[in-house]
Amino acid sequence: MISEIKKHLEIVAKFNSSNEKEIESFRINYIGRKGVLTNFFNEFKNVPKSSKKEYGSLLNNLKKDVINKINSLKLKKQSSLSDSKIGDYSRPGFPIKSGSRHPISIIKSRIIDIFSQIGFSLSYGPEIEDDWHNFSALNIPKFHPARDMQDTFFIQTNPDYLLRTHTSSVQIRYMEKNKPPIRTISPGRVFRNEVISSRSHCIFHQIEGLYIDKNVSFIDLKETLSYFTKSLFGNSKIRLRPSYFPFTEPSAEVDIYWGLKTETDHRITKGTGWLEIMGCGMVDPNVLENCKIDPEKYSGYAFGLGIERIAMLLYQIDDIRLFYENDIRFLNQFKSTL
Ligand code: PHE
Repeated sequence: MISEIKKHLEIVAKFNSSNEKEIESFRINYIGRKGVLTNFFNEFKNVPKSSKKEYGSLLNNLKKDVINKINSLKLKKQSSLSDSKIGDYSRPGFPIKSGSRHPISIIKSRIIDIFSQIGFSLSYGPEIEDDWHNFSALNIPKFHPARDMQDTFFIQTNPDYLLRTHTSSVQIRYMEKNKPPIRTISPGRVFRNEVISSRSHCIFHQIEGLYIDKNVSFIDLKETLSYFTKSLFGNSKIRLRPSYFPFTEPSAEVDIYWGLKTETDHRITKGTGWLEIMGCGMVDPNVLENCKIDPEKYSGYAFGLGIERIAMLLYQIDDIRLFYENDIRFLNQFKSTL
């Protein structure tokens, strides 16, 4: 019996294989329920007393060797597998998916392009604004009902600060730092405490424009807006409807003629063919004075539009929430620029 164990010790020591099946049958052969080791252990009771000690220690060695052998062969196999993965430079790489630009970003760049072609510069400002730049300087004093036109998120610890409700605040900052002539557009994120629905969201994007010089008139505003709508929509037919903004006088809302060709056109224009796309007006003299620009010498116009609204029209998207969900299936549709 002892010589049999010794024989197996030699066999185990010599055993070598990288074949998974061979390693597995070696394992079953030795430590399976009816395997070699079980047999030897069962025989223990028949071993003469004088040999029990030697038999037991040899058998334990055999068991240890078998387990070590199996583990080391498995380990070797695993590392050789990963070696070959790293080492084989001819293997094709993993496909890298390319992303796409966000539709808001695409439309924003198009609008910026259109205005830069006629000399508008870009200006940016902070998203957390103070009362002065977002309201007071724009002719919306404290406690004036016009503040309710835009429901505001105030900073809880200091209500003199708020999340800007429009990028008109950037225009104030720009006028405080620059002398006319001024020609600038301010894109950015704005925040309003509104109920989220398919048509409105608390966070959206605006581009506002400002032009200040000597003798700027309403005609200049209308011509600039016609040029803009022609460049973006291929249609320059616009109409201006009288409106009210505290920072412009007179003020207007701009509609473009969208047409009534399809059922969607009927739906989104409510059967009129006209669509509102932005607000505008001549900068109120009070606003110029607040920025130390002499309203006797200078005049100017301002306009502001929501990028989401334009993107919804151009891409025929009927739910604003889709822009913020980052669903890859939605975003992948905008690979090409308009
Ligand atoms: N700031 C206005 C808004 O957010 C838009 C606007 C800008 C209107 C400039 C007139 C002139 O609604």
